[in-house]
Amino acid sequence: MNKHIFTFACITTLFLSIISCQTTTKDSSKKSVDKKVDSLLSIMTLEEKIGQMNQYSGFYDVTGPAPSAGDAANKYKHLEQGLVGSMLNIKSVKEVRAFQKIAVEKTRLGIPLLFGFDVVHGFKTLTPIPLAESASWDLEAIKKSAENAAIEASAAGINWTFAPMVDISRDARWGRVMEGAGEDTYLGSLIAKARVEGFQGEDLSANNTIAACAKHFAGYGFGIAAKEYNTVDMSLTMLHNVVLPPFKAAKDAGVKTFMTAFNDFNGIPATGNVYLQRDILKKDWDFKGFVISDWGSIEEMRTHGYAKDMKDASRLAVLAGCDMDMESYAYVKNLADLVKEGLVDESLINDAAGRILKVKFELGLFDNPYKYCNEAREKEIIGNNKLHDASLDIAKKSIVLLKNNNQLLPLKKGGLNIAVIGDLADDKSSPLGSWRLAADDNTAVSVIEGLQAYPDNKITYASGPKLFEDSPNFVNEIKINTTDKSGFSEAVNAAKNKDVVIMVLGEHGFQSGEARSRTNLDLPSFQEELLEAVYKVNKNIVLVMMNGRPLAINWANDHIPSIVEAWQLGTESGNAIAQVLYGDYNPSGKLTMSFPQNVGQIPIYYNYKNTGRPQAKGPDQVFWAHYSDVSNAPLYPFGYGLSYTTFTYENIKLSSESFNKEGSLKVSFTLKNTGNYAGREVVQMYIRDMVGSTTRPIKELKGFELVNLKPGESKEVSFTIDTKTIQFYTANNKWEAEPGDFKVFIGGSSVTSLEADFSYVD
Ligand code: BGC
Repeated sequence: MNKHIFTFACITTLFLSIISCQTTTKDSSKKSVDKKVDSLLSIMTLEEKIGQMNQYSGFYDVTGPAPSAGDAANKYKHLEQGLVGSMLNIKSVKEVRAFQKIAVEKTRLGIPLLFGFDVVHGFKTLTPIPLAESASWDLEAIKKSAENAAIEASAAGINWTFAPMVDISRDARWGRVMEGAGEDTYLGSLIAKARVEGFQGEDLSANNTIAACAKHFAGYGFGIAAKEYNTVDMSLTMLHNVVLPPFKAAKDAGVKTFMTAFNDFNGIPATGNVYLQRDILKKDWDFKGFVISDWGSIEEMRTHGYAKDMKDASRLAVLAGCDMDMESYAYVKNLADLVKEGLVDESLINDAAGRILKVKFELGLFDNPYKYCNEAREKEIIGNNKLHDASLDIAKKSIVLLKNNNQLLPLKKGGLNIAVIGDLADDKSSPLGSWRLAADDNTAVSVIEGLQAYPDNKITYASGPKLFEDSPNFVNEIKINTTDKSGFSEAVNAAKNKDVVIMVLGEHGFQSGEARSRTNLDLPSFQEELLEAVYKVNKNIVLVMMNGRPLAINWANDHIPSIVEAWQLGTESGNAIAQVLYGDYNPSGKLTMSFPQNVGQIPIYYNYKNTGRPQAKGPDQVFWAHYSDVSNAPLYPFGYGLSYTTFTYENIKLSSESFNKEGSLKVSFTLKNTGNYAGREVVQMYIRDMVGSTTRPIKELKGFELVNLKPGESKEVSFTIDTKTIQFYTANNKWEAEPGDFKVFIGGSSVTSLEADFSYVD
């Protein structure tokens, strides 16, 4: 028996002798884990328990402000002393094994470490950014994508992802909208569930599933003016109705961990917020997993002006229910003294450490701390073809066709003379998106490469001016090129006398993501100017947008005949785009964030409140809720997206005009494919609660279905409406259904085409 197995065996004998390992039912296995946790806790020193609550980043990669050198030097010492419960940013079997070995062989109790990583849109094989995936509205595909990410990450030794990010946001200025599921709470909740189930699978102890983390709890998507890390000031109505449901859905799906947010909520930083963590999460929702701080967010409570020093910050965070400290070095230095001085009750430490140990047991780390460390598996799985095929599949489903006048698309597969223009068209980095710490740089299929799979058309490429002054990266500020126009006229010339011009414009993959807030949502650098100049010489333009957030493309919408929203689609990006442009996949995505006409309309979202003055009383009336320079409408609304075919909605019917507490009603209608291509439509159902104990949105998504139809084919589609459909967080501070009148709307976007009235009677 080698040394680490021997050490580990001694420890397990010590505390497992108290209980039997053999369990049969789910319930008894839960109890058995609890017993194992208790017996382990009973032999741990206070310092060892606090050690479980401490997480350090690895030595090479950082995903936040770099820690001070002195602390970094202490990491090894702390690891060997059993004062570390988890590491992040370690990304290969070799590295994971090395750190796990220290924990298992060198520490007194040999408790294995958790290895966390931001597996946000894939690991090495990248999938579309989450905002793009949400545009597929395909819950099965989204779940599969998370499942694949878990398979690949676990093969590299990772056992915990800091995903899904389930923050609702209505503000495209915020860079992190790329990481979420958009502006809608209902869709966001279903996607949260799909992602948690995908990562964690049916059996968390399998070696190809990993623990998930719902983040950032809570309100992070609502920083004032979308400035990163900014103050959040919101009502309880908003918190409960808009922000919390996706977190609750993640909890109900069994998510093992939550991460706090950087922002404050109601004047109290989320990491020290008792109302959010203790009252809502741990008491009302009965969450049994553990909560981790965000990077340094315990320490930052000092800077917020909420804690007077690190010790105070540690006290406030642990009292609030934050179980693990990511990179603040706060708990490991201060908690033991706080307990000894009677300022923190040891029962809180037991609770926190116990929650963390429980997840380690559930992952099966005590059975085999190296279960994710298999070099052969790592070699076989990382970057394999299956993962590429799956990434391509969801990439195609994520693309949204925004405009297609004159049927410029799909392109003919032969005989065309095409100009491809734009710095992003041969960019193999941008499509990878922002969270890609484990990926090799420049490994995405570029648009140019994707188009080469269709060799019977002639392609001339001209990049136009460079977008950036240097190569953008994850940790430095982006420097946009605003001075060097070289390449401009060459690009315009390339567009002349071509059958079609494909212009690939947008943002770099590092222009959205954390700390990438923008006040201007126009196309950066000289791109808009280039688009207008090319349009002057050739109007047959297909604009392919590559971006991590909604952009303001008003001019393009007014002039360019075909616009394709292709986001940042990950490793297979160029192949997915080419297959859509050539019609080998008929686009079926729908926007999950409204696109503004201009940045001044933001935050803009479909489920706004009616206000007391929703429309003008007469042609010249000014006293109503509007702007005097642009209309209230977005450029493209939530739920919007075209197909190469067309669909009609008709014949809405209700099974009855009302329902009561025990009952339900059915709304049905006929969907018809009236175009020439087989296609997939995301049919959507919205409701409006006409009068509420608090004011209600003018429309709320409450159901959707993906329907595939051949040309000429039609289908009767129906949705069920019951009390769950109409419940909300009422003026009584509870989730309940209020009797009254409602409208139901059906259509292919939030600008719906059919409607009917019904009521709910108590
Ligand atoms: C982000 C988190 C992330 C963490 C670890 C933070 O800066 O806000 O979402 O999980 O870093 O990388």
